[in-house]
Amino acid sequence: MEVENVDVNGKNHKTTKRKEILQKKKFIEELIKAASSLKDPLANFPDFLHYNKKGLCLCLEGGHGTRLSRSLKQYVQKLVKLNMEQHFGSDWPTEEKVKHRDMVAPEARYIFVYEVPNLVSTNEKISKPSNECNCNVVGFVHYRFILEEELPVLYVYELQLEPHIQGKGLGKFLMQLLELIARKNSMAAIMLTVQRQNRSAMFFYTSKLGYCVSSISPSRVDPLVGLRKNYEILCRTFDQEAKSKLE
Ligand SMILES: CC(C)(COP(=O)(O)OP(=O)(O)OC[C@H]1O[C@@H](n2cnc3c(N)ncnc32)[C@H](O)[C@@H]1OP(=O)(O)O)[C@@H](O)C(=O)NCCC(=O)NCCS
Repeated sequence: MEVENVDVNGKNHKTTKRKEILQKKKFIEELIKAASSLKDPLANFPDFLHYNKKGLCLCLEGGHGTRLSRSLKQYVQKLVKLNMEQHFGSDWPTEEKVKHRDMVAPEARYIFVYEVPNLVSTNEKISKPSNECNCNVVGFVHYRFILEEELPVLYVYELQLEPHIQGKGLGKFLMQLLELIARKNSMAAIMLTVQRQNRSAMFFYTSKLGYCVSSISPSRVDPLVGLRKNYEILCRTFDQEAKSKLE
């Protein structure tokens, strides 16, 4: 009789545990769905829509992978090639194809950075940079809300600034904004991939922003595999579970 009880209790415990796991999985999927369905993830952060520092006069606008204009697609491809080709070496042609495909995925979300002409910036604050003025796009972020190690994360696919606006605090500003977007949408972490060759980006993320090499990065999963891979996965986590799974 006792043995039977143990079995029944054990079975109940397993069923409850399984139920909890499924509920949690569903909850996380809902979080990602809700974040991805937001019409304008920047709307909650009006203070971040303009950047006027170190001689730059910029404004930001959100975007969506399936709604990119032809000129924006061309721009994204051109800037990624300009900034990244050198870091991929002979892998670039393959990588470029992957990036072209990723660029227009339904999950892709964007922040475009526009340079505001002086005349416009002194007279008025612009709310729709691309339509109402002669603003030139000078950089962008491609990010997604995705599931990683069973956790909801904001994954930064690309952060690309034109050379003339680099080193003026904008990269840090955009990463702060992404962190706010991630937290506001209950993501557990921010993650990104960096080519090891790209030393200035590695320095920027790890030394300046305090990101760490994730425990799921090839070099930490297996140092031998890590040697063959030329990238690292970096992260910043927002809670204890994410810390234990990703850091
Ligand atoms: C990497 C990148 C996004 C950084 O953005 P950024 O606007 O140039 O960087 P910031 O001006 O915000 O720099 C923030 C801090 O990092 C430091 N930093 C940034 N780039 C650096 C570099 N190449 N060398 C030394 N320090 C650097 C800055 O001095 C600054 O330090 P501070 O806070 O003490 O003043 C930008 O340079 C870029 O677009 N590079 C080309 C594309 C790329 O490599 N993207 C990353 C792919 S994963």
